[in-house]
Amino acid sequence: MSPGARPDEGSTAGPPGRRRFSGRRTETGNRVELGEVLLEVEDLKKYFPMKTSGLFRRPADPVKAVDGISFRLRKGETLGVVGESGCGKSTAGRTILQLLPPTAGTIRYKGRDITGVTGHDLRMLRLEMQMIFQDPYGSLNPRQTIGSIVGAPFAIQRIDPEGGVKAEVQRLMERVGLNPEHYNRYPHEFSGGQRQRIGIARAIGLRPSLIVCDEPVSALDVSIQAQVVNLLEDIQNDFDLTYVFVAHDLSVVRHISDRVAVMYLGKIMEMADRDELYGDPLHPYTQALLSAVPLPDPRKENKRARILLTGDLPSPINPPSGCVFHTRCPRFREELTEQERKRCVEEVPAQLPLDADHGVACHYAGPAAAPVL
Ligand SMILES: Nc1ncnc2c1ncn2[C@@H]1O[C@H](COP(=O)(O)OP(=O)(O)OP(=O)(O)O)[C@@H](O)[C@H]1O
Ligand code: SF4
Ligand SMILES: [Mg+2]
Repeated sequence: MSPGARPDEGSTAGPPGRRRFSGRRTETGNRVELGEVLLEVEDLKKYFPMKTSGLFRRPADPVKAVDGISFRLRKGETLGVVGESGCGKSTAGRTILQLLPPTAGTIRYKGRDITGVTGHDLRMLRLEMQMIFQDPYGSLNPRQTIGSIVGAPFAIQRIDPEGGVKAEVQRLMERVGLNPEHYNRYPHEFSGGQRQRIGIARAIGLRPSLIVCDEPVSALDVSIQAQVVNLLEDIQNDFDLTYVFVAHDLSVVRHISDRVAVMYLGKIMEMADRDELYGDPLHPYTQALLSAVPLPDPRKENKRARILLTGDLPSPINPPSGCVFHTRCPRFREELTEQERKRCVEEVPAQLPLDADHGVACHYAGPAAAPVL
C-alpha cells in the first residue's frame, strides 16, 4: 500500500471537513445542545499488581487493565464504551468513579482535579457520581428490602429528603416504573428487569450528575432490554444526567450514545460521534467489530464483507509491542507492506488526545478495503 493511500495515515485527528459533534439527539433524531465540560479524563492508567513469583522474587508484571485513556465528556452527553471482554471497560468506569485508585493520569470533574480524593471530598463526590451495575441479581443485597436498598444512599450521606426517606424512595420507585407499595419486598420477589429498575432508583436518589452504566442491560432478555434503555433515556432528560454507557452490544450502544469509544487492551482505538463511527469507521478493529453486527436489510447483509478477528485477545500483562492490535489486525495481515508492518510492530500509535473529534489510534487509519456496513 502506498503511503499516500490513506488520508488519515499516522494521525489521531479526524479527516478535514468532518462535522464536529455538537449535541445529544431528541426523540426525533435532532441534536440538542450540550452543556459545559463535566468530566475530563487524561492519560488514565489502572494497573493491577500481580504477586511476585520465582526463586529470586522478581516483581511480577502488572495487569495493564487501563493503559492511558483520555476523553472529555459534556453535561448531558452519553459516551458509549465498547470492546471485547477483558479490554478494560469496567475498570475504566470504576477508576473514573474513584471506586478503584488510579495508577496514573488525571480525572477532572467540573474543572476540579478529583484524582485520588479521599475522606469528606470523596463522600461529597459520591453525591454527584453513581454507578449502575450489570448484574441486577448480584448488586442488590438479598437480605434487604427494596425500601432499605433504595434508601441506603440517603442514610450513608445522612440526608433527610423533604417528606422523609420513605416518601422519597416511593417517589423514586414510581419514577422507575415500580409499584411503591412493594417497598417492603425483597429482591428475589422481582424479575430481572424490575431488579435493574431498583438499581436505577438507587443510583438516581441523590440526584447525581454522572452515572457510569456498566453493561446495564446485558443480563436481561431482549424485550426487557429495550424498556430499561428507554427508562435510562427518559431519566437522563428528566434528571439532566450524563452517562458513560459500557456495553458489548454495538446495537444498544448505537441507540443510546452520542459518542462512542472503542477499547482494546486498555486503550482507546477509535472515538467519534456515533453516526460517524458507525457510518465511517476508520480503525481496523472498529471495522471488524461492526462487520459482525447483523444488518436488517438482507441485500446489504449479503454484499458486505465480514472481517474475522483471528486469535485470542492477548494478555494485558504482556501486551504486544508497537500497536497492541497488530497480532490480530486484518489490515496488518493483508494490506500492508513489509516496511509498514515493521512500523506497526515497533511504533505505538499516538494516543487519542483529550479533545479528539474523530480520533483513531492507527498508523494506517482509513476506510475498510471492502464495505463492512
Ligand atoms: N482486581 C483485579 N485484579 C487483577 N486483574 C484484574 C482485576 N480486575 C480486572 N482485572 C483484569 O483487568 C482486565 C480488564 O478487566 P475489566 O473487567 O475491566 O474488562 P471488561 O472490558 O469490563 O470485560 P467484560 O466485558 O468481561 O466485563 C482483565 O484482564 C481482567 O482480568
Ligand atoms: S497494526 Fe497497524 S494497521 Fe493495524 S491497527 Fe495497528 S497501527 Fe493500524
Ligand atoms: Mg466489565
